[in-house]
Amino acid sequence: MTKKAEIDWETLGFDYIKTDLRYISYWKDGAWDEGTLTEDNTIHIGEASPCLHYGQECFEGLKAYQTRNGEIQLFRVDQNAKRFKDSCERLLMPTIPEETFIAACIEVVKANEAYLPPYGTGGSLYIRPMMIGIGNSIAVKPATEYLFTVFCMPVGAYFKGGMTPVDFMVSDYDRAACNGTGQQKVGGNYAASLIAHDIAVKKGFADCIYLDPLTHTKIEEVGAANFFGITKDNRFITPISCSILPSITKYSLLYLAENVLGLEVSEEDVFIDELDGFAEAGACGTAAVITPIGGIHYHNRLHVFYSQTEVGPITRKLYDTLTNIQLGDIEAPEGWITKVK
Ligand SMILES: Cc1ncc(COP(=O)(O)O)c(C=O)c1O
Repeated sequence: MTKKAEIDWETLGFDYIKTDLRYISYWKDGAWDEGTLTEDNTIHIGEASPCLHYGQECFEGLKAYQTRNGEIQLFRVDQNAKRFKDSCERLLMPTIPEETFIAACIEVVKANEAYLPPYGTGGSLYIRPMMIGIGNSIAVKPATEYLFTVFCMPVGAYFKGGMTPVDFMVSDYDRAACNGTGQQKVGGNYAASLIAHDIAVKKGFADCIYLDPLTHTKIEEVGAANFFGITKDNRFITPISCSILPSITKYSLLYLAENVLGLEVSEEDVFIDELDGFAEAGACGTAAVITPIGGIHYHNRLHVFYSQTEVGPITRKLYDTLTNIQLGDIEAPEGWITKVK
């Protein structure tokens, strides 16, 4: 078992680390059981479980942070609970009451406090709730039983380098479609994206950028993160689309850009051949936090925004504001923080 002292907090990445306890609950005959914490990090399920064949699965991702004075807090967990409910409903799965979802996250963080990266290390405790359809039924129809679990692990930067700019390439592949499941956090979206990610990494990029599936002219997602750009006249712009995940980080930045930095903000189409209007650009998400985009490779040309090595001033301000709120160093807008301890 890895104990606090054995983890090198400064070099943490995003690899799986087994922690002590996870929450698990089963749904059968129309009801959830009480739920419990378990040491077992394996799941034993029937070979004809619908999650294995037809991808009846959804998940969430959020983080717990240690504050300067030793408290522990979650960032916007209620928003994850709501998005999880939306994903469950889209896949005809039973929902989890918001209070149960939040209580399970809190319980798991408390039970694994030894793995919470200390304040100042840049790390956090990543929390992964998920639900899968289980029970043997090979026909293409919703499962008869479900499993909801929440585990956690200590993490550092998702993209190597953290808050240093990285380059992305535009993919020819589509991630999701309108009226499909692009707006939900379901496993199938990610299975479909693996090949595009693989190609981008093999070509030396951090990840790929997806364009809208209908016209291939507008930016959708930056790997597993949303896109934002700062225009040359200081507006915060982020794509609007029916096939991207509504990023909680993105909506937080929209709020902070407008209300703390005083910028004009808007969700609108971002055309891939109109990048010249942006002075800065970034990828945002729970895992990516804010990752500055150095350049975007498209049609044999690398469009560089602010710099491939330096972080732009507004991206920096947004990053500082967001992370200071997450770490409890500045006051959060009402309802953004849930105290664990
Ligand atoms: C495809 C995709 N887009 C965007 C995001 C960012 O969403 P959030 O800010 O809620 O983490 C994620 C998850 O991190 C994602 O998987």
